[in-house]
Amino acid sequence: MRIDVLTLFPEMFNGPLQTSIVGRAQTAQIIEVHLWDIRDFTEDKHRQVDDYPFGGGAGMVMKPEPVFAAVRHVLGGDDAPVVLMTPQGETFDHALAEELSQEDRLILLCGHYEGIDERIRQSLVTREISIGDYVLTGGELPAMVVIDAVVRFLPGVLGEASAVHTDSFAQGLLEYPHYTRPRVYEDMEVPEVLLSGDHQRIADWRHCEALRRTLLRRPDLLDKLALAPRDIEILKAIRAELGQS
Ligand code: ADE
Repeated sequence: MRIDVLTLFPEMFNGPLQTSIVGRAQTAQIIEVHLWDIRDFTEDKHRQVDDYPFGGGAGMVMKPEPVFAAVRHVLGGDDAPVVLMTPQGETFDHALAEELSQEDRLILLCGHYEGIDERIRQSLVTREISIGDYVLTGGELPAMVVIDAVVRFLPGVLGEASAVHTDSFAQGLLEYPHYTRPRVYEDMEVPEVLLSGDHQRIADWRHCEALRRTLLRRPDLLDKLALAPRDIEILKAIRAELGQS
């Protein structure tokens, strides 16, 4: 997969994209990330990328010319999705990350200042993504979030092929609790079932704990699921235990 990022601050990406799993995915040539400085596409002597808003008001607006030039240069006639990072976009989630991971190519455009000239949206952008209902100073951190979440879905990126399918959200549930050594830490013991070697009991316990966790923390996720009759029974028992029935 090839990802092109258009930004005013390419240097912001160096740490996160070179490190850990995303860094390894690049070394292994599973992804190729190209960073483009929008300022390099200005043609005036001040390399101006923003201007005052028509109609007045606070803040500056990203000018159309350098962004159009940058996107057209990077696309080079290709029809890859051009994704604008903006708090006005559709909310990013697990399903959208998986969907984007099917693309061969993504162009991520990072907005800055108070906004971007609307004509960029109208004629260049094919999709708008928000990483949540809060406003950041720019689209760079959101673009890194999207890259990280998308890359995890690409074959060969995670050590264990199935990890991405047992994650929180993969089955619409939060993930069960994990434990590692030591067996007892400051009087806190690892649940006995995990030491039993009985794979079926372990799988059942994990499923039950995933349901419990989701019920306690994100009951809204349960409303979206087609629950098996067995899960409905388990949830009933958990609610009864909690005195919620
Ligand atoms: N740019 C500023 N805030 C943002 C957000 N929440 N999501 C995506 N892009 C943004």
